[in-house]
Amino acid sequence: MKVKTINISEISENSVKVVNVDDKDIAIFNVEGDFYAIDDLCSHAEASLAEGEVFDCKVECPLHGAEFDLKTGQAVTLPATKPVASYVISIEDEVIYLEMEDNA
Ligand code: FES
Repeated sequence: MKVKTINISEISENSVKVVNVDDKDIAIFNVEGDFYAIDDLCSHAEASLAEGEVFDCKVECPLHGAEFDLKTGQAVTLPATKPVASYVISIEDEVIYLEMEDNA
């Protein structure tokens, strides 16, 4: 199911916005004009990945420093061992859509 979120103009280059879809916070990153979406909640403990530092298409959790691949959600360094969900993005008429699993 495709879910409409925000306009690309709302996320300036090299910044991030958190959107709430189905009661889940999803962080949408703009990395040099490319967009990536992963769960905002770190898989290790309660931290917002949107508040982390982004480099090399990865985000570093602000709490304990685990790094996650923005493309896949994979945890690439400890202390996180589990991935976070990543979402397929499509952009139509400058609006970002996320491909969400259908719960029905
Ligand atoms: S909460 Fe993210 S690494 Fe611990």
